[in-house]
Amino acid sequence: MSISLSRYLVEQQRAKGHIPPELRLLLEVVARACKSISQAVNKGALGGVLGSAGSENVQGEVQKKLDIIANEVLIEANEWGGHLAAMASEEMDGIYLVPNRYPQGEYLLLFDPLDGSSNIDVNVSIGTIFSVLKKPEGSEGVSEKDFLQPGRHQVAAGYCVYGPQTTLVLTVGDGVVMFTLDREQGSFVLTQESVQIPADTKEFAINMSNMRHWDAPVKRYIDECLQGKEGPRGKDFNMRWIASMVADVHRILSRGGIFMYPWDKREPNKPGKLRLMYEANPMGWLVEQAGGAATNGRQAILDVQPSQLHERVSVILGSKNEVERVTKYHLEQTK
Ligand code: AHG
Ligand code: MN
Ligand code: MN
Repeated sequence: MSISLSRYLVEQQRAKGHIPPELRLLLEVVARACKSISQAVNKGALGGVLGSAGSENVQGEVQKKLDIIANEVLIEANEWGGHLAAMASEEMDGIYLVPNRYPQGEYLLLFDPLDGSSNIDVNVSIGTIFSVLKKPEGSEGVSEKDFLQPGRHQVAAGYCVYGPQTTLVLTVGDGVVMFTLDREQGSFVLTQESVQIPADTKEFAINMSNMRHWDAPVKRYIDECLQGKEGPRGKDFNMRWIASMVADVHRILSRGGIFMYPWDKREPNKPGKLRLMYEANPMGWLVEQAGGAATNGRQAILDVQPSQLHERVSVILGSKNEVERVTKYHLEQTK
């Protein structure tokens, strides 16, 4: 018997008591939005959704049409249900308050509406990443400050990858589950439970073109991997880099591996390229829930106290023993 996302969420609410009804509704709505985005992604050139929108986001990146479409789909789907107080997105400078005409809920939703934008026009996997927080108790109204909570406080997190299949991957703190979109039924069906990342791996993911800009600990780790059987690791490593974090993390959740987008000397004042609150935190929690680890080289990503909505962070995540090794190399450097 197949289990739909709706049924899984009802069970999480009723039997396990993990999620209140409002959070269940929120996750249903996010999944529905991902279904619409998947539809648009699938149409591609036929739907006129490819190419640049001719605008820039707050991070100075050129926005693609699909970045903006996905952002709008997520906002329109989520603003009226009464479960949210506000939203934040890679594609919006400030927070988006639920309009006055709708009831206000207690949850905060953050998203990267379309991750892997450079892959949109070349028919390579892309995705949507989301993170859910609760508005701090006792705060009147809602402000950006309410969002600045460490990743440990997330109450739900996940992503939807638009690849050969559309797969929604979710955690509400009870392990990681995967649902595949059944297009004929129009519903997400549970296809993998208790996802576990093997502790060891022979596969790394990093953008090697930045090698000359890396810090010594990252250089050391990759150099040792590249030496293969003859080197200190005593085994050959393979490399993958999709340039969509969702697709790289999906592979790691499926068969292990390590993913790194570390700080580098190109922009020394920025802690990294990826964004803490709607990229690193949700992915970090998924990876931890699957038995892996996620750090910024010094501490668990989930323990980083954010000070800005669009804050960046250095990211090292995946198979536990490898992440611990890279983190150890970083900590040794600062001794
Ligand atoms: P986004 O498309 O949301 O801006 O994120 C892209 C990110 C991430 O998905 C990916 O791992 C990384 O940027 C790729 O960066 P490079 O092009 O520097 O390899
Ligand atoms: Mn992204
Ligand atoms: Mn994006």
